[in-house]
Amino acid sequence: MKERRKRNGIVSWRALFWSTLLLLVSSIFFTTLFFYPLNDSQSPLLFRWETPPTTSHATITIRETVMLPDQVLIFLNYPPSFRFHSKHDLLCLYFSADSTSRLTQPPIQLHIARLHEQIVRCALPPRGNTVSIFIKSDGVLPTKDSSTHHWTPLVYEALFDRDNTTLVFVKGLNLRPERLIEPSRFQCIYGWDFTKPKFFLKTEVISGAQEIIRCRTPKSILIGQAHSIKVTIQTRDTVIFPSIARPGLCARHNTPKKKAYEICICTMLRNQARFLKEWVMYHAKIGVQRWYVYDNNSDDDIENVIYFLQRVGYNISQHLWPWVKTQEAGFAHCALRARSSCKWVAFIDVDEFFHIRMKGGLSDVIWQHAKPGENVGEIRTLCYSFGPSGRREVPKEGVAMGYTCRLSGSERHKSIVRPEALNQSLINVVHHFHLSAPFVAVDADKSKIVINHYKYQVWKVFKQKFYRRVATYVADWKEKQNAGSRDRAPGLGTKAVEPADWANRFCEVKDFGLRNWVFRHFLDHRTHLLPWQPEFHHHIRKRRRPKDKIIIQPFL
Ligand SMILES: *[C@@H]1O[C@H](CO)[C@@H](O)[C@H](O)[C@H]1NC(C)=O
Ligand SMILES: *[C@@H]1O[C@H](CO)[C@@H](O)[C@H](O)[C@H]1NC(C)=O
Ligand SMILES: *[C@@H]1O[C@H](CO)[C@@H](O)[C@H](O)[C@H]1NC(C)=O
Ligand SMILES: *[C@@H]1O[C@H](CO)[C@@H](O)[C@H](O)[C@H]1NC(C)=O
Repeated sequence: MKERRKRNGIVSWRALFWSTLLLLVSSIFFTTLFFYPLNDSQSPLLFRWETPPTTSHATITIRETVMLPDQVLIFLNYPPSFRFHSKHDLLCLYFSADSTSRLTQPPIQLHIARLHEQIVRCALPPRGNTVSIFIKSDGVLPTKDSSTHHWTPLVYEALFDRDNTTLVFVKGLNLRPERLIEPSRFQCIYGWDFTKPKFFLKTEVISGAQEIIRCRTPKSILIGQAHSIKVTIQTRDTVIFPSIARPGLCARHNTPKKKAYEICICTMLRNQARFLKEWVMYHAKIGVQRWYVYDNNSDDDIENVIYFLQRVGYNISQHLWPWVKTQEAGFAHCALRARSSCKWVAFIDVDEFFHIRMKGGLSDVIWQHAKPGENVGEIRTLCYSFGPSGRREVPKEGVAMGYTCRLSGSERHKSIVRPEALNQSLINVVHHFHLSAPFVAVDADKSKIVINHYKYQVWKVFKQKFYRRVATYVADWKEKQNAGSRDRAPGLGTKAVEPADWANRFCEVKDFGLRNWVFRHFLDHRTHLLPWQPEFHHHIRKRRRPKDKIIIQPFL
């Protein structure tokens, strides 16, 4: 316990913590929660948790702190009646153990995680320093060592699934890809404080693979709907993983017969806000109705772009997914999130566009590949990689109109998945899920649908991607390199220099298919603008007011 500040000299940290905990517990289970210690058997109740007296005054508290490799996540708990603070109301505060030095810095970004919970992203503290939050109107929030975690090993997310199991997302298991584990290797533990074995509930593991362990949910939790209980896993040699994960409800438990949306998209991105409008508006036109954006720590304008899209009627939500190297787990999480409302879910990136080459929209394509009774659970679509197409500047009209030259061969594929068909292990590798019997995957007919992947855009754009994901792109990059030229062999961390012929690379076939489609369906003949161009909305706003429609994220 580093920071033992007495705010206004009234409460010690310990008193504050316990009173807040009691308050929290009581407010959530406002009557009673039945609780079996240690083993969740059918044994009679051993004790019950009555509504405790609540006398403390409510304040914001730090629930957990996670040190990622390049930033810190601080989870704040708000008392029920509090309004969320904005970025300008608070500062990240860094101080040394002896409190001789104190530094503050504005947060990178704030996110609303769920009801009464906000995540603050701060820069990493200087060596030897602790990080806390300074609320301008209120003072410093106390911290404690036991709630500060490294990003691995860590149980970082959890979800209650509808089959009375809990999905536990774990970093640091280092399991072999695509292999199921022996369930007896682990146990799941539910509780509020894993240093106090008295208040544990243990259940067995049902399955597990990659980063996801599925456990039986204790009966007492099923009855009590314990929203704020944490879950973690324990290995056979009794090592308990640190955990920040409070399972959220996986939407409605009894799936309605008719889903709200026919086709949804899950995507994961970082700092790609400027491509989002075109990508969403285009896909809406071909039949996508709902977008789940898993945001890996963007610090661009993404909140505002998403807010704009919501306001003009798109069903889109943003979910912070800051975890390191967890793409597969993120897709699994999204698939589950989408399952109760989406019949089909596509997993594509923001620089990938479905290009339909037959008459009709995406649902016609799906119907052609997954006729009733054929048990198709996944449709795999080929990708074509587009080059800069002679461009040197970012095309103002967007990528689909801007880039029209590509490599002739297709690359790996992406998939459209029926979430009901997913295997309970949720195993997925490079955008493909394991299915559960009797469902099968089919390859899409490329004369009906492909994906245009705007992979090698103008240098200015590509360069950012290159820095971000050197490992992914260096191979393609080097393949096309003239090995003798030193300029053109940027290694990891060295300056990437624009190759003289960049604009004309990756160009083997002219492909105007999608360009022409977008031109026909989107160009405004009066203004000659496309709806995703910034000037477009100035014109449109004069003509009609956008609908005020904001969707509430179903997972809050
Ligand atoms: C889940 O648990 C509830 C409450 O114990 C029970 O009514 C329900 O049948 C269970 N569902 C499944 C799929 O086991
Ligand atoms: C949003 O969802 C509703 C159904 O809930 C649907 O009718 C509407 O078309 C969707 N909007 C867009 C832009 O896809
Ligand atoms: C998010 O970005 C960071 C780079 O800052 C990277 O280390 C991490 O693996 C990314 N996460 C995912 C899920 O791609
Ligand atoms: C789920 O996947 C695992 C491993 O790929 C496989 O052994 C199992 O049979 C699958 N389950 C179903 C219901 O098909």
